Amino acid sequence: MLEFKATLVLLLCLVPGSLSISSQVPLAAQPWDADDYAKPRRKLQGRFLHITDMHPDPHYRVGASEKKACHRGKPKKGKRAAGYYGLSYSDCDAPLSLTNYTLDFLGREWADDIDFVIWTGDSARHDNDRKHPRTTSEIYGLNRAMAKKMEEVFARKGIPVVPTIGNNDVWPHNIMMPGPNGITSEFSSIWRAFVPFPAYQVFQRGGYFSVEVIPSSVAVISLNTMYFYDSNAAVGGCEHSEPQDPGNLHFDWLDVQLETFRSRKMQVWLTGHVPPSPRNYFPECYVRYVELSLRYQDTILGHLYGHMNMDHFFLLDANQLSRPRNMSSTSDNGISTLKQKKKELYKTLMQEFSDLPKYENLDHDNYGVVNVAPPVVPTYLPSFRIFTYNTTGEPYEPGHLGEDEQPGRTPRSMKDVAGPLCADEAYENTWRCKLTQPWHSSPRSPSRRNTLWTPLGYAQYYLPDLEGADEEHRPKFKLEYLTLPASTLHPPPDDAPESENETAMATSAGRKFDWPIPKRHLPRSLRNSTTTKSKKFAPYTLDDLTIPSWTGLAKRLGRNKGKLRQRFKEFMYMGGEPA
Ligand SMILES: *[C@@H]1O[C@H](CO)[C@@H](O)[C@H](O)[C@H]1NC(C)=O
Repeated sequence: MLEFKATLVLLLCLVPGSLSISSQVPLAAQPWDADDYAKPRRKLQGRFLHITDMHPDPHYRVGASEKKACHRGKPKKGKRAAGYYGLSYSDCDAPLSLTNYTLDFLGREWADDIDFVIWTGDSARHDNDRKHPRTTSEIYGLNRAMAKKMEEVFARKGIPVVPTIGNNDVWPHNIMMPGPNGITSEFSSIWRAFVPFPAYQVFQRGGYFSVEVIPSSVAVISLNTMYFYDSNAAVGGCEHSEPQDPGNLHFDWLDVQLETFRSRKMQVWLTGHVPPSPRNYFPECYVRYVELSLRYQDTILGHLYGHMNMDHFFLLDANQLSRPRNMSSTSDNGISTLKQKKKELYKTLMQEFSDLPKYENLDHDNYGVVNVAPPVVPTYLPSFRIFTYNTTGEPYEPGHLGEDEQPGRTPRSMKDVAGPLCADEAYENTWRCKLTQPWHSSPRSPSRRNTLWTPLGYAQYYLPDLEGADEEHRPKFKLEYLTLPASTLHPPPDDAPESENETAMATSAGRKFDWPIPKRHLPRSLRNSTTTKSKKFAPYTLDDLTIPSWTGLAKRLGRNKGKLRQRFKEFMYMGGEPA
């Protein structure tokens, strides 16, 4: 097998033009060389990047009018013109100057500080200009250009990049047929450096794959949410009666993946473009997503998505599925415009948070947390997220059914949760009442308490001064906020005196202090440990990103009608009004 792969790699390299980039690169640095996963590639930094929705637009013209998608025209008096690096708080897409600047910046300033990259799709412009309808070749061309750039700045340095198909990466927009098809075959070529060789065959069929970003320890699963997205009219929507529906096949595959990773005592990030919510997914796909999330809660570190262009999080909640369908969906009560929908999302989230049971009564087995990152495209302001995670401690060993902390407690299944609904003819033959496998959850798992591989926090960076930037004056990425308490950014005060030399730092316990965010990436006001009570950048003060931390924040937001909610809303729309 080993020899076979080596030969194949060699062969591919010899075909002229087939692998123009990869062939120039030392093979050891190629994330798609599956043999590589046997050995760690680089020293772990305990951080990764989540970047999403770049929407590069080759028709973008500096000085053009927003009304014409920043493609042409002159803005009316008092209206803003398209800027050199993009037009903030607008419907325009991103000029290539912005996507280039962002990726060059990340490659230069962050590549050495991160271990892998999660990239959740929409790497082509929107279809927002009738004079320039999108074409398949333009969409693929833009995706290829973005992939090439990601390869240059990350993959060539041995940093695995895990991309996802977005609803704007296909033509027509939102539509994707079951594979193998032109889309899956094109993307298997575009993402040659990212999709591991053994995953190729499945990728050709479904457009999904997984990557062991930390060999034998942590995997990232890239889901093809096009098969779950209720705007995709080419698929059936995971109906129980259609086992061959591509959404159902996708979940069958995911089930096996999660089971396999769990049996290998690994941990997994679930990633994709369209976030799993009843607002976006076909009802039956949503049920299957929630079910797998809870069934493998002890194996899943979290859920990372894009698409919405709004910074927020929400909960996957088993209780929602114990209620009849029309009551579990709180949105879409006749709302028409996108702007209204965006406004409505904030209200819906606050309602959901307010409706949570008392914190003491929360059964954490019932929850998963979905983090939706804001985009690079300046719908509000361009941004990206750096997650930090725990690289110390012993791996979590999944227990057997009826986990050890709760002897005698029989694990539940989806059907148990749906309960009385299953007596109803309307539910009898739906997934809620067909999924009977017991759920694996444990308060000891990395998604529930801070241990090896647990996400600790994220820092979100943005470009607040996009307007003032031009060819001579480049915009500057600044910290927007952190989820961590500011006090955890520095070594504890009784430890060795603070030094500029980060690597020489040692705590009294003798272990090197792991800076959650390298000091040079902190704003000046946070570089000094005396300002550790700062709420300006750190209003949430989450000790880690476990499920109990997120439900705690959700409870606080549900209760608090004041400052904290204001900050959440400010982050959601980046200080602007819903665009
Ligand atoms: C962006 O970068 C690519 C290659 O890295 C280059 O070909 C292109 O000209 C750049 N575009 C702009 C607008 O900077």
